[in-house]
Order: sequence, then C-alpha cells, then structure tokens
Amino acid sequence: MSAVADIEQQRQAFYGRADTQSLAPLWTRLKSLVPLEPTPAGVAHRWAYRELRPYVLESAEHISAKEAERRVLILENPGLRGSSQITNSLYAGLQLIMPGEVAPAHRHTQSALRFVVEGHGAYTAVDGEKTLMEPGDFVITPSWAWHHHGNESGAPMVWLDGLDIPICALFASTFREDHRADEAQITRPTGDALARYGSGLAPVGWRNPSLNSPVFNYPYARTREALFALARAGAPDPHLGHLMRYINPADGGWAMPTMATMIRLLPQGFETLPYRSSDSAVFIVVEGRGELRVGGQRLALTPHDIAVVPGWLAYTLHASEDLVLFSYSDRVAQEKLGLWREQRC
Ligand SMILES: [Fe+2]
Repeated sequence: MSAVADIEQQRQAFYGRADTQSLAPLWTRLKSLVPLEPTPAGVAHRWAYRELRPYVLESAEHISAKEAERRVLILENPGLRGSSQITNSLYAGLQLIMPGEVAPAHRHTQSALRFVVEGHGAYTAVDGEKTLMEPGDFVITPSWAWHHHGNESGAPMVWLDGLDIPICALFASTFREDHRADEAQITRPTGDALARYGSGLAPVGWRNPSLNSPVFNYPYARTREALFALARAGAPDPHLGHLMRYINPADGGWAMPTMATMIRLLPQGFETLPYRSSDSAVFIVVEGRGELRVGGQRLALTPHDIAVVPGWLAYTLHASEDLVLFSYSDRVAQEKLGLWREQRC
C-alpha cells in the first residue's frame, strides 16, 4: 500500500470511530459549509398567472375556506419541491376567498404579507381592524396578530401570500393559536390605521409597540400615484428602475421585520443593467408587460405573473410597457445580521 493510500485508510478509520461519538470532521465539509459566494437553494422561475388561475379557482370546488382554514395553493420553487418554499428562506402561495366565505381567525409567530391580485372589496381583519382590499394593495399581518379574512363582495378574491415560514422554522420558534370564534372582534373602524399613521401624521406621544409598520394596508392607488410622479420627475436608476421600499413611518425602516417589501416602475422601453444581491427575491407583476432575463432564461412578464430569482444571480428587467413590479425578500433580516450585499454588475 502506498503511503498516500495508507494515510487515507487511517483517516477513514478515524472518521468511522469518531462517527460512533456523533463527531464529524469539518475539513471534509469546510468549503461547502463556508463557500466563497452564496449558493442559494432553488432556481429562477416564473409562474404565468393565466396558467395558474384556473387551478386557483378550481380549488374552491374541492374545499371551502372554512374547512381548509386557508385555501392556498403553494408556489413551490421547482428546485425545492416538497419544501413549501419559494426561496431558501421564504414561502409564497395564492389564496382564494369566494363570495360569502370567511377564513377563520388565528394567529401565529410567522409574519405574513398579502399582495392583492384580483377581486374588489374582500377584507382582511388584523388586530381588530378590517381593511378592504383592492388589486395592488400591500397588507401586513404582523407576527402573533389575530387575523381572519372574509369576502362580502360578489366576486372571488385572490391574493399572493408571502410568509417567513422557513425563517421561523430555522429558529424553531413557531407558535400558533386558533381563535374560539371564526371572526376575531373588530375594535377599530376601517381606515383607522391609515388615518393615524399613514398620512404623514402620528398621534402626539405615540410610540410604536410593534416591530411592524402600524400602517397595515398600503393602498395601490396611493403607491401608483407616487411611482408615476417619480417617473415624471427624473430618470430611473440604471440597475433598479424607479425602486421604492415600503417603510414603517415610525422609524423609516422597512415595513416588516423579516421581509423587505418593494415596488418599482420601469418605464416603457427601459432595460435595467445587470444587478444581483444576496437576498433571493419574489416578484409579482402589478401592471404592464416586460421580460426578466436571468441565468440564460428569458421569462415573459405579464400582469399577475410571479417570478423568483435566487440570491446572487444577476438579472435584468426589460419593460415593453410601463411595468410595475412588487417584490419581497429576506433583505431586511440579512441587513440586521450584517449579511446583505449587492453588486451592480
Ligand atoms: Fe394566518
């Protein structure tokens, strides 16, 4: 036996003996545990809403919102099948509420965002206040806040759910509680939070008791007006377009503590230069058309399409019409941990 083979045989014997004590050698795993660059799980993918929509609507034929508790079809990253994840750290799903239905009240430590896709006037009740939802509205359900959903309109409502389920799973910090009633008590009038905190005003002496923005519905009508005014006022960032983040008016930080939410307008004909960042991002088309180019793929973007781009993968966006994209990622959590990086390629 050569000296090299002898050394390797002795190593393997050692590893085998160490294994009996639940020990493992780091040096055989070091480069995969501590890679040079991020290697996020999952792949870049686009779900065409026109293809998803029939499945979402058909789900109502198979189960009620009450029986399902939440009638949602999970958007599972094709590279992470079976995990209920759209990225390594985030969950996404399409939720359907039919007219007359109530999705019963519960609360959990996972934070949730809703981004309304279609329908008018169904509501989400969060922490004692109902908000009526319109397409493009961004709604927050903070960690451990009672919430239920209902549809008193005459048409189905569909929204994108984004949750930090994998982040909470990492910390094994998950709690949930079902409310004794289907509908939690409403204690404040609709529009109260927007009036108190979402108009550039705040009650004197108020201190935010939450890590979340007190504005739990950011109506698209306001957001859209701001975006298009910005576009009239100046040129877009070459790599990002007219990109805005939803903020917590109490401190100017992100609106939610674990999920960063942003919206951008790419004017017709605009093409971004390549960009990448260490957070994997989920995009949904609010309006307009264009294309996402990532990893050799050209993914057409039409209204309500959903796309995911793994972190540290450079991408470009191309707008064939004025294109508005909402996105969410774990950027806020990465920033707090000192991990987040970006690169304008
Ligand atoms: Fe929930």
